[in-house]
Amino acid sequence: MILSGKAKLAGVMGWPVGHSRSPRLHGFWLEKYGIDGAYLPLAVAPEKISQALRALPSLGFQGCNVTIPHKEAVYKAVDHLTERAKKIGAVNTVIVNEDGALTGDNTDGYGFIENLKAGAPEWKAENPAVVLGAGGAARGVLVALQEAGVSDIRLTNRTVERAEALAADLGGITVIDWEDRSDCLKDAGLLVNTTSLGMTGQPPLEMSLEGLNNSAVVTDIVYSPLKTSLLEAAETRGNTVVDGLGMLLHQARPGFAAWFGKEPEVTDDLRQFVLEDL
Ligand code: ATR
Repeated sequence: MILSGKAKLAGVMGWPVGHSRSPRLHGFWLEKYGIDGAYLPLAVAPEKISQALRALPSLGFQGCNVTIPHKEAVYKAVDHLTERAKKIGAVNTVIVNEDGALTGDNTDGYGFIENLKAGAPEWKAENPAVVLGAGGAARGVLVALQEAGVSDIRLTNRTVERAEALAADLGGITVIDWEDRSDCLKDAGLLVNTTSLGMTGQPPLEMSLEGLNNSAVVTDIVYSPLKTSLLEAAETRGNTVVDGLGMLLHQARPGFAAWFGKEPEVTDDLRQFVLEDL
């Protein structure tokens, strides 16, 4: 790709950053839409994060994504926060405003819900949702579900205190003991795995889906493997399943639109392109 002197710049700050799929994903869109711009991997050590962020306006960057381990530090370092970033308590997208101030956004929950709607258009927020896991990823999912109108959320986590803390903070959540995770599926319209169980190299997620309605949607934020054993089991019994790759793709859309001025689309060829390098 040949850049002009006016090329728009963005990137992803992480430490390490080599594992990030974001340069490939944004690079695909830049190429597809013929945009004069670049999206770079930015390896920023934790002690340099504030300095690196403050350099964005000076260098003429439009903004950046931030990934592990910077999401909480950036939350504290930016000048403005969007409402959804405030609710999630972490930032994954930074936008440089015209006056050089930095706005922190969090698009993880947005990516989750957009992926769910795209993969399971029949899903309805009226029915209870069962959420497995209370780690960093769970918070974005819970906030997005509540914003979409889910008023009955059953949350279960190995370490019950983490689930209780989230429930106390967000409200509208019933905490279920981890041992009882297979027994809380009655009437649920959605089952979400936000734990790392089932991910390549991690232990499997052991769970019986016997009590789950056939009409319920099952989704996993794990995307390596793409078809986790949870999704396989759910698909075999006739449930609609939504894999986790789409969440990664959809969470990238608001940042791209803000930095490069084009609303990008999540398409099969994009999925295929990102999958080739998972
Ligand atoms: P992330 O920020 O990606 O969510 P995390 O904060 O480490 O990562 O959370 C990982 C989630 O997977 C947590 O819900 C964790 O449960 P704990 O809060 O009890 O640690 C869950 N998890 C990881 N390994 C697990 C295991 N072997 N059994 C049950 N849950 C597990």
